Amino acid sequence: MLQVATPTATEETQTVIEIEGRASLRGEVRISGAKNSALAIMAGTILCSDDCRLSNLPALADIDKMCQILAAIGVKLKRDGDRLVVDASHVGHGPAPYDLVSQLRASFFVIGPLLSRLGMTKVPLPGGCAIGTRPVDLHVRGLQAMGADVHIEHGVVNASIKGNGRRLTGAKIYLDYPSVGATETILMAATLAEGETVIDNAAREPEIVDLANFCRSMGAQIRGDGSSRIIINGVEKLHSTDFPIIPDRIEAATFLCAGAITHSEISLFPVVPDHLASAIAKLREIGPEVAIDAPDRVRLIPRDLRGTDIETLPYPGFPTDMQAQFMALLAVSEGNSVVTETVFENRLQHVAELQRMGANIKLKGNAAFIQGVPFLSGAPVMSTDLRASAALVIAGLAAEGKTIVQGLRHLDRGYEDIEGKLRKLGAKLTRIEQPVSL
Ligand code: UD1
Repeated sequence: MLQVATPTATEETQTVIEIEGRASLRGEVRISGAKNSALAIMAGTILCSDDCRLSNLPALADIDKMCQILAAIGVKLKRDGDRLVVDASHVGHGPAPYDLVSQLRASFFVIGPLLSRLGMTKVPLPGGCAIGTRPVDLHVRGLQAMGADVHIEHGVVNASIKGNGRRLTGAKIYLDYPSVGATETILMAATLAEGETVIDNAAREPEIVDLANFCRSMGAQIRGDGSSRIIINGVEKLHSTDFPIIPDRIEAATFLCAGAITHSEISLFPVVPDHLASAIAKLREIGPEVAIDAPDRVRLIPRDLRGTDIETLPYPGFPTDMQAQFMALLAVSEGNSVVTETVFENRLQHVAELQRMGANIKLKGNAAFIQGVPFLSGAPVMSTDLRASAALVIAGLAAEGKTIVQGLRHLDRGYEDIEGKLRKLGAKLTRIEQPVSL
């Protein structure tokens, strides 16, 4: 008898989060260390040839990537839970492998410390990303003003100190835009430069202050961080330090939105309430109260939700990194809201996914016009970027029925065990394997 081979169906699977909506939350959530602070500070460890010991590091895919990038350029790392010991005594000129750098824009932050410490470096351009083109011209112009020769060849930024000089030279630098990354690059490079560097129109984010505190703990001379003029007096050498990372204000704001949308009383610890000022102000406009119970603890007290307008701006304005989560909340807040994104040109992709869940949102340019609906309905949705994925989880918590959030690689970049933390508060969600329909 003739045997005919039947093709075996190969079933590919993907990990998704399944949320059963409308459970109420209660209790306290522990906020992890700030991803964006940790990434810049990890790059900053290159400035020092002695050991640096960091603590309160979040367990995130982005942090793992940064560890791999540092290891690829010769840095020795020992990680134990939230602690990381970094020995950058034998760091090389690079370049770090492009396949790693292309996955993490923050990897470009190594350029300032490498150049300042070694006098030359090669760093691949980080490439585009889902939320916009994100150029690095302000980083490059800052380094050039400090005496670096910078040219881009085959997608790699080659930077060296002009005239075979040993140190960068302090300079007066005005940033056309208060870029967080450019401020960090210039600040780190200036710590070991000769003379004084002044950064005007500097970014004022708490992560800049954390980076400056870290550099100061190694002996750097920096003042004015947290204001729009930062002054750095270069020193010859930095020394070993022990440094704890600040709590993540974006993770904290995400949980505040989760409490508000489920009408639940939840506490957050540890936080720096000042870092949450714009989020707290907007929550109060929307309805919920935020009580500051202790210098490092806040509590969300639920109230009816009403619409408001939000425009993203550099700190202390409302953060672009909280925009998507607040949009999920406004989607079920009574009345009309307008959310305007001014920081990144392509950061409203979550609108289409929220619409699939029944949100009434119209997009016009960089503004989303929202008419609150009484409830959302669960649906399969796809994460488009990191904060958008958190917004979809928040929407799923409030929606009727089941929401399946796909594209978890985004979520895992920036939220440490989000489902474990939400489950502990009483949310009904699980991470499951699901067949991919090809
Ligand atoms: C950081 C944060 C990111 C946050 C953003 C704004 C990290 C790892 N990431 O990103 O989560 O959303 O700040 O708060 O800390 N720009 C230029 N030229 C440059 C640099 C930036 O035109 O050389 C533009 C960008 O395209 C963007 C704007 O400036 O439109 C803000 O970017 P920037 O503040 O630099 O953000 P990042 O440091 O990339």
